[in-house]
Amino acid sequence: MLSKKMEAALNEQVNKEIYSAYLYLSMSAHSTHIGLKGFANWFMVQYQEEMVHAMKFYTYINDQGGQVRLMAIDAPAIVWESPLDMFEKTLQHEQFVTKRINNLVDLAIKEKDHATNIALQWFITEQIEEESNDNDIIAKLKLVGNKGDALLMLDRELAARVFIPPATSQAA
Ligand code: FEO
Repeated sequence: MLSKKMEAALNEQVNKEIYSAYLYLSMSAHSTHIGLKGFANWFMVQYQEEMVHAMKFYTYINDQGGQVRLMAIDAPAIVWESPLDMFEKTLQHEQFVTKRINNLVDLAIKEKDHATNIALQWFITEQIEEESNDNDIIAKLKLVGNKGDALLMLDRELAARVFIPPATSQAA
């Protein structure tokens, strides 16, 4: 059973996760537009992962007898200055999400809501991985600089990322 405050905060997070999906879908489209299909693939996989996150919150609210309330999704940006800019914005966004997840845990602890606290632990671990992935790619992009051939090599590397659906994923 969720308190009204916890239910509202979890619903807010459904919205933020769908916004994350929307943001990465827009980055995927932009990457395709500028000819970086590997980057487009990476962001498309990220979009799919964010929808999994949103649905985890959605399912959890339902499982706890709460009311899912879907809200308007903000429009993401459409263009970015460079691949480095996209990943720096991605990292900033993930740091924002990490803060939100931490705040949800704080609320669950304050309310002695142990079930929600346990459910949120998966997201704490996931955020470590997300920020780490972004930092790795940012480091590579800084090394690449203005070298087109190195950027195309990185594009090929990012083309290899594959979405693992929750049913077969260990983490989900
Ligand atoms: Fe759902 Fe990228 O955090």
